[in-house]
Amino acid sequence: MAAKVIHGPEVAEQIRQELRVKIAQLKERGTVPGLAVVLAGEDPASQQYVRNKVKACQELGLHSRTVLLPDDASEADVLNAVDELNSDPAIHGFLVQLPLPKHIDENKVIMRIDPSKDADGFHPINVGRMLIGDPVFLPATPSGIQEMLLRSGNDPDGKHVVIVGRSNIVGKPLAAILMQKKKGANATVTVCHSRTRGLADIVRTGDIVVAAIGSPGFITADMIKEGAVVIDVGTNRVDDPSAKRGYRWVGDVDFDAVSVKASAITPVPGGVGPMTIVMLMKNTVTAACRAAGIER
Ligand code: GUN
Repeated sequence: MAAKVIHGPEVAEQIRQELRVKIAQLKERGTVPGLAVVLAGEDPASQQYVRNKVKACQELGLHSRTVLLPDDASEADVLNAVDELNSDPAIHGFLVQLPLPKHIDENKVIMRIDPSKDADGFHPINVGRMLIGDPVFLPATPSGIQEMLLRSGNDPDGKHVVIVGRSNIVGKPLAAILMQKKKGANATVTVCHSRTRGLADIVRTGDIVVAAIGSPGFITADMIKEGAVVIDVGTNRVDDPSAKRGYRWVGDVDFDAVSVKASAITPVPGGVGPMTIVMLMKNTVTAACRAAGIER
């Protein structure tokens, strides 16, 4: 069976259409939703993400601001940038791109973000609210994955979802979102990681497999149950002398082999990436609606 390819840009466009309606309502009331990103350092994947975010804001007519800091910026520099955005009324949501340079304490920076402007949903208050099922902002990548599943006809309700990777950005929040007693969730969730024994056997029991480990081609066809739905969150830059730029982006899944067995699969690029961006826009619009006192 050849898997149906779930195209992130198509699903993202549906959500953008819905957002355009909200953004028009906000503009009628004199509010332009504003999103900012703080980027410290020169990580190429982070730079690409920030470029994509600015482009997405422009396409939707959102106000956007990027604060660029050098690799050797101090923790105080980053905290100052956060303070400034916390008090900027034109910015409804913002994020600090991770990973930060090693000498900066990420937790300290995240704690400094005003939870009502936390477009990433990474502040402990927002993480706690997500876990108890009363979210303010859901983290963009996991909520984008949930939307992709639902809008491609793969409701996780009652299914066994195996998540490979336990990061605070993807694995843990996705588990929290999909296990909720809620429409569009209600999954049985297993989280595997680098210390999991018998990982391949567990992944083979997944009706839905989410790969978020950051290891190119880690998920091979023998780990996938016939007909499973496979979501690839990996964005790994690998050298490729035949590519124009000398590199290309690949996922955590061996796409060619796995797509013969799976019933649906997301590609890299063109899968989860565009969803992350659009869900960030959604969080920003939600924050602006709250600030303007209009129903979301
Ligand atoms: N780095 C990789 N993904 C993300 C994300 O969703 N948010 C932030 N802030 N940093 C990231």
